[in-house]
Amino acid sequence: MKLWIPFAAAAGVFVGAAIIFGADWDLPPVDTDQIGYRGSGMYHTLDREDQAALKLANVAPEPPYEADPEGDRAKDVYENVQVLGDLSDDQFTQFMASITEWVAPVQGCAYCHNEENLASDEVYTKVVARRMIQMTQHVNEDWQAHVAQTGVTCYTCHQGQPVPANVWARNLVPGEKGTGLGWSGGQNIVNKAAGNTSLPSNALESYLLEDKPIRVHSLTALPNGENPNTTKETESTWALMMHMSESLGVNCMTCHNSRAFNDWDQSPPQRVTAWHGIRMARDINQSFMTGLAPVFPDNRKGPEGDVLKVGCATCHNGVQKPLYGVSMLQDYVDSLGSKTNTDVPDFTTYKPGETTTMSPAKTTSLEPAIGAGEGATALASAD
Ligand code: HEC
Ligand code: HEC
Ligand code: HEC
Ligand code: HEC
Repeated sequence: MKLWIPFAAAAGVFVGAAIIFGADWDLPPVDTDQIGYRGSGMYHTLDREDQAALKLANVAPEPPYEADPEGDRAKDVYENVQVLGDLSDDQFTQFMASITEWVAPVQGCAYCHNEENLASDEVYTKVVARRMIQMTQHVNEDWQAHVAQTGVTCYTCHQGQPVPANVWARNLVPGEKGTGLGWSGGQNIVNKAAGNTSLPSNALESYLLEDKPIRVHSLTALPNGENPNTTKETESTWALMMHMSESLGVNCMTCHNSRAFNDWDQSPPQRVTAWHGIRMARDINQSFMTGLAPVFPDNRKGPEGDVLKVGCATCHNGVQKPLYGVSMLQDYVDSLGSKTNTDVPDFTTYKPGETTTMSPAKTTSLEPAIGAGEGATALASAD
């Protein structure tokens, strides 16, 4: 009797089911767009179902109402407005309503404020939010090589959640810390940051926080001793490339002609934008995210205790241009379009629940008596 037949059939059914329901495979129908010259094999393959879901998920909200730019300035009306002081009172109030919708729609104003004393900086999220305003202004003014006139707002990353959906943190996989099983090089465990592959899990740290070289290509078919890179570096580059492709919902062809991955002349213009994007993400992480470490509580940090960081998917959320290229910034040019106050407070002095004013000029956390006094007067005047 041929016993192997039913076994083979059963195995076939299992594997088939696993492919369809388990693995991240797409069922037809798909659409293909030609994006390069005929014969160069440069196509985009897009799954219709996925595209429909992405379209629904990436919609830019309208401003709550149109704000009047005339009238008293926020810095004259309020007590502790350090970055947005030049907005009109109406613009400032509208901005507060907008960031509440963008970052904490469920929790409301209280997510960042002691509602008895809106001027106080005692809630850590307010201190983070102020730095995030500076960060967004910096991206819109200094990184137009990447974000163009489209720009970004808080919604680009947050999309209605206090913690953006796509962030990353340092994650040394087991085995790397010496369990006696050898050194895995951060590989062989599926990780989201490397585009759901088991390529090196620490690649984003090397390229989007540190400044390790990304280019690994040899210029000759056979080794001539000029290229010092080994397979190990190549794998890390590949992990970054998978992260970038997955983040934008594209394939390698969007930025490369695969017959010469290294050659800029044969690459689509998107590759240049991406080059700036790598530097921008690194700058955001180095200049803004890591510095906020003393302010974030432990439950907002990664498994290794570092702050959650920005990758390509943080803004792109699976689409080639965030929010399909719709510019929310055009309605918030006065608040987020350019840098206003770039001073950085000393975040190591921050004490949640105690620090009433977090500013570069003062060290209120060292003078609790004064801090408490200020809070009390503010409370009195708020009534
Ligand atoms: C995501 C955090 C966040 C949310 C949510 C938020 N705010 Fe603010 N708020 C801030 C920050 C940051 C400042 C300080 C801005 C600056 O320094 O330029 C501020 C300042 C203020 C001030 C000025 C207080 C003073 O006297 O200095 C008022 C008033 C205010 N917010 C009202 C509101 C209201 C009303 C809501 C809800 C509709 C709200 N905020 C929601 C972060 C937030
Ligand atoms: C480039 C992406 C990006 C942009 C733009 C951005 N944020 Fe963030 N934001 C992050 C990341 C990443 C975190 C870290 C989350 C963590 O560690 O909890 C964060 C954290 C925060 C938190 C702390 C949330 C918590 O629960 O701990 C607040 C509040 C916040 N952002 C407000 C804002 C505001 C307001 C704006 C716009 C002025 C803004 N963000 C723009 C990426 C962004
Ligand atoms: C969003 C654009 C983008 C996508 C998608 C992309 N790349 Fe890249 N790739 C770049 C950029 C930009 C560089 C150069 C990075 C630098 O020098 O900082 C690069 C560099 C490379 C290099 C090194 C080239 C050299 O000169 O050594 C290789 C190899 C590579 N990519 C392969 C891939 C593969 C494979 C894929 C698909 C899995 C891919 N890339 C997807 C933008 C992209
Ligand atoms: C702070 C948010 C933000 C981050 C982080 C970010 N991008 Fe972008 N990116 C944008 C915006 C906004 C645009 C749209 C610019 C425009 O309208 O031309 C864009 C456009 C692009 C484009 C051009 C798309 C096209 O078809 O013209 C590429 C490619 C790209 N990003 C790649 C990347 C890569 C790769 C990373 C990570 C290394 C990254 N981006 C990180 C905001 C971001």
